[in-house]
Amino acid sequence: VITSVRARQILDGRGEPAVEVALHTNKAVHRASAAAADAPEGAAASSTRDAEKRKLLARAVADAVRVINDKVSEALVGMDPQQQAQIDQAIIDLDKAHHKAEIGMKAMLAVSIAACKAGAAEKEVPLYKHIADLVGKSTSTLPVPAITVINGGTHGGNRLPIQEIMILPVGAKSFEEAMQVGSETYHHLKDIILEKYGSDSCNIGDDGGFTPNISSISEGLDLVIAAIDRAGYNGRIKLAIDVAATDFCIGKKYDLEFKFAEKSRQDFKTADDMIEIYSQLCSGMTCAWIDIFSVHILILFMMLIFPFLYTLEYPLVSIEQPFDKDDWEHSKKFTTLELCQVVGDDLLMSDPERIMRAVNEYTCNALVLKANQVGTVTEAIEVVKQAKDAHWGVMVSHRSGDTDDSFIADLAVGAAAGQIKAGAPCRGECLTKYNQLLRIEEELGSDGVYVGENWRTSAGT
Ligand code: PGA
Repeated sequence: VITSVRARQILDGRGEPAVEVALHTNKAVHRASAAAADAPEGAAASSTRDAEKRKLLARAVADAVRVINDKVSEALVGMDPQQQAQIDQAIIDLDKAHHKAEIGMKAMLAVSIAACKAGAAEKEVPLYKHIADLVGKSTSTLPVPAITVINGGTHGGNRLPIQEIMILPVGAKSFEEAMQVGSETYHHLKDIILEKYGSDSCNIGDDGGFTPNISSISEGLDLVIAAIDRAGYNGRIKLAIDVAATDFCIGKKYDLEFKFAEKSRQDFKTADDMIEIYSQLCSGMTCAWIDIFSVHILILFMMLIFPFLYTLEYPLVSIEQPFDKDDWEHSKKFTTLELCQVVGDDLLMSDPERIMRAVNEYTCNALVLKANQVGTVTEAIEVVKQAKDAHWGVMVSHRSGDTDDSFIADLAVGAAAGQIKAGAPCRGECLTKYNQLLRIEEELGSDGVYVGENWRTSAGT
């Protein structure tokens, strides 16, 4: 049984305060922490930050720590940690404030995850197995990692407007091989960026992706294609982008120069212009790149004579948050073109009501699950079920500047998510998730199945 719950303030991957919880049972102590990254404006999730604004640039979480140590601990003492639903309900019942404002989503999630870890230990099963039991399924599928290789947007100090370019090693045979493919490609990309833009362009952004000073999506995709080619993985890797378009939507237009020191004032795009850009990227625009170091001279010659025969297409299969968070109309217009997986981030805010609307209106066809926008493990599982019932893709996600908690790795396996997004093969808070998946795959042995090419549909199985 639970004997006490103690919380403390720790620092996350951006050096910002986050809540860590130590849940004591009569047998052991189980620790969990939840990412502090805030929810988009208008989200159901409330902030965990202190009312007292003087400390830690108004980011401290001492109020949430106090509530856990006093109220939450008292309510949970004596409960069986295997009863996740009851525990989560007890936490929710304590918070009478609108949008879970009193305890705050992230603090709530840390308690809920600590209880989940304790429940698995009490049952003497691995965490992913306990989660699969909570979901009501037996599962042993390893997700495809969406590995960040280039950062931009508000996550990088370059001029690239979009937040992330990711690689999906769908052609690997195992999760271990997927990480090998991802890591090799990442390091080749570093060399290519170094050769082209110099060493100061090899700095990394908030998710561990490189931040070369490029300014367009296709420039970024060309670099990644070159890295894939140099690594020898042509045809085995798909590409994904997270546009995070809410960050550069001004009024109803998209400012692709939002990070330029001097703006041409010519690059404001309408939502329809953005649809055109995405459509071209997904369906066959010639890519500008030719890697003269690796293309055979004969092929190069043929390309010069018959260029139309050798147009290269980006294997872009997934676009996250292509429009502003409240632009349901254009999200629908783009999704119904069925050009790729369209992932709802700010559009959904992992909020069941927004997901229901998106399912009904078909404004996207995949969920990025950010558990700290939901509040508890039970609610996160419900949201995954909601997405699966709609035959959507499910991408379990970290938060930028996450903590070193690896819970989402077990969640992705336990909930058979099919996809996990945890940043680059770099930065401790990203690797803690990927490394946990390597351990899980090893433990599952021949029972473990890497979803590979079934990365979109495995969520429905
Ligand atoms: P965020 O970014 O945690 O800053 O919202 C991560 C993502 O959008 O996937």
